[in-house]
Amino acid sequence: MQKLVIQGGTSLSGEICISGAKNAALPILCASLLTAETLKIENVPQLNDVTTMLALLRQMGIDITQDGKQGVELAAASLSNLVAPYEMVKTMRAAILVLGPMLARAGKAMVSLPGGCAIGLRPVDQHIKGLQAMGAEIKIDHGYIHAQAKHLTGAHIVMDLVTVTGTENLMMAATLANGTTVLENAAREPEVTNLADCLIAMGAKIYGAGSDTITIEGVRTLHGTTHRVMPDRIETGTFLVAAAASGGEIYLRDTRADILTAVLDKLREAGATIESGQDWISLKMKGVLKSINLRTAPYPAFPTDMQAQFMVLNSVAEGTSIITETIFENRFMHVQELKRMGANIEVEGSAAIVHGVASLDGTNVMATDLRASASLVLAGLIARGETTIERIYHLDRGYEHIDEKLTRLGAKVRRLN
Ligand code: EPU
Repeated sequence: MQKLVIQGGTSLSGEICISGAKNAALPILCASLLTAETLKIENVPQLNDVTTMLALLRQMGIDITQDGKQGVELAAASLSNLVAPYEMVKTMRAAILVLGPMLARAGKAMVSLPGGCAIGLRPVDQHIKGLQAMGAEIKIDHGYIHAQAKHLTGAHIVMDLVTVTGTENLMMAATLANGTTVLENAAREPEVTNLADCLIAMGAKIYGAGSDTITIEGVRTLHGTTHRVMPDRIETGTFLVAAAASGGEIYLRDTRADILTAVLDKLREAGATIESGQDWISLKMKGVLKSINLRTAPYPAFPTDMQAQFMVLNSVAEGTSIITETIFENRFMHVQELKRMGANIEVEGSAAIVHGVASLDGTNVMATDLRASASLVLAGLIARGETTIERIYHLDRGYEHIDEKLTRLGAKVRRLN
């Protein structure tokens, strides 16, 4: 198993390019299930989750060509296997995203239930409820969702809570349904909008993506198109926090400030100077790092996927802060590891109280999920001495070439086999 060894204490400085967004690429790859024509996708990040999704789609009968860089072509002339097996779903929950499009196109789907995960229970009841409202017959048997619908029909669906992949699954299913579907209390995340843009370019009729009410008028067929995946706002945010926590100065290309407002506001509150243009963001950190309170919530509020990284920032900031996690019930797994590095954090229910300390100390730590791993990398960058992070396969699920990018910014990082 690979490890990352980081020699802490270097301020990050320099320029890097941000990759395509994992959480936009995954649903967009699944959109290829909706058409017999070729879907060309650009700016697909090279990540373990993308590899898993491509393997899943390939075994369903999709013909996939990769250009060795960030381009992928998918042609689903016919679907030969309508099953997403447990072996794949258990390694990547986003595999649930094949359910809606597969059912809409082929009238049938069998997808393993994802089960619990490191950050929370994460049920998929809203996905199921929405598809049932659209006329699907669904039964759960031996850990699998068995879904069937000769033809889905449009429905008015009020979602009980805001779910990102739930919204994406139902939006994809509704594109080929008979009649109009309205999704209320829909997720407003930019990744939902990026998927909607791809579907619209494929001929779908979708209105309101990016708001909490999305209307989809079903069409008979969708066609191929070329679509570019949006920049990864969480990768962007992670590098910005790394620069802020290390007292550095960085310039990020191929990204967008307009999808990161809540994160940029918090970084400014912490004392960073941030500038941005249409496709770049720069950050300079001089002076004292100030503690900031934050509360995660659905977009456009502060993202749960940035909570762990800000915990590191607050760990070495002046003062005491409260971080409240409202999306997932178990997303403080990094706290114990950060405490082993000298952080002073108490967890009370869904809140973490962080008392800033002068510095963290390097040691051996273990990654438990993707964003927790990112926080340990940030902690290693600012800690005194050496930090070894084990189980970094979590990191490789969501950060493209993270060690190379950090090295380009001056960090002392080595990957060990
Ligand atoms: N939920 C339900 N029922 C459902 C669906 C969700 O109760 O049917 C609950 C979840 O348990 C959670 C909350 O609703 O408490 C929100 O979950 P959501 O469905 O929005 O999460 P997701 O779609 O499974 C996506 C991202 C996550 C990100 C969350 C929240 C993808 C592939 N994943 O997950 O990304 O944290 O939205 O923004 O888009 C990551 O990249 O590290 C990651 C975990």
